[in-house]
Amino acid sequence: MVDSLLKEYQAKLDSRFDILLTENGQLYDEVIKACRYAVLNGGKRIRPTLLLEFYKLCGREDDCAYNFACALEMIHSYSLVHDDLPCMDNDDMRRGKPSCHKAFGESTALLCGDALLTEAFLVASKTLTIPADRVVKALSHLAASAGVAGMIGGQVIDMADNSEADDDVLFEMYRLKTGALLKTACAIGCILAGADDELVAIAEKFGEKVGVAFQIIDDILDSVGDAKTLGKPVGSDEKNNKDTIAVRLGVEYCRELAQKYTDEAFECLEHFDGDTSNLKNLAAYLLKRDY
Ligand code: IPE
Ligand code: IPE
Ligand code: MG
Ligand code: MG
Ligand code: MG
Repeated sequence: MVDSLLKEYQAKLDSRFDILLTENGQLYDEVIKACRYAVLNGGKRIRPTLLLEFYKLCGREDDCAYNFACALEMIHSYSLVHDDLPCMDNDDMRRGKPSCHKAFGESTALLCGDALLTEAFLVASKTLTIPADRVVKALSHLAASAGVAGMIGGQVIDMADNSEADDDVLFEMYRLKTGALLKTACAIGCILAGADDELVAIAEKFGEKVGVAFQIIDDILDSVGDAKTLGKPVGSDEKNNKDTIAVRLGVEYCRELAQKYTDEAFECLEHFDGDTSNLKNLAAYLLKRDY
């Protein structure tokens, strides 16, 4: 059921990316090729799915939030391109193919990430069919979550030597490097739909909980997953001497922990009047995923 939901969104998003990222015979086409390679490559599309599902949950049945959904996935995809670079995690595979820098070289991969981040805001700003005050608020959330107090901050903590750090530092890293974009996905869906601040805050809480659970599972998969199924290398964290909660506390305990975060996320959904079954199923599916 979740598979078909994700497939449906994937198809709709891909047809939009195909138009948004078009080579146009300019001297700089190479970077557009790299952007297409980094985005149109079978990602699970979890973040746009959350955004669009919260938009729907808040009572909207139209396609007006799609530009933001695409923008968010472009930012996520950029984060993966940069995350794989030799100066970061130095990983050669992503989404089942050579990483962007392996296919296009480091300088193009760097610029591809820069391009996706910048163009994302251009795409989101072209949301003309939703009241401008909501769009501005959503843009501000998007920037904050991708920025220093969000995903970038988390990546900075990730790159530091955390061997002496408390577990709390690792959880803060998860909240930022992964939780921030998932949290903003949920918030933006609600904001664009015109939900009040109280509901936006509850959606954010849901996103953050699901986000931390998501990263716990990602770390588990990095140690016990299958590279072919994952589409990216296993053992990357160990190779880079990264401290993860999975390594520190053990896989079994971490699965329970991820379940606990997900249960807390489920409680947030009780505050919404509409049908939350897709979101519930999605959060449950993310716990059991093997890719
Ligand atoms: C991978 O995210 C990076 C993390 C934040 C753990 P996803 O697992 O959502 O990657 P794709 O988009 O499906 O490739
Ligand atoms: C990714 O964390 C977080 C990002 C913001 C990109 P990881 O480094 O664990 O993600 P993967 O395992 O490479 O997808
Ligand atoms: Mg990383
Ligand atoms: Mg990585
Ligand atoms: Mg990982």
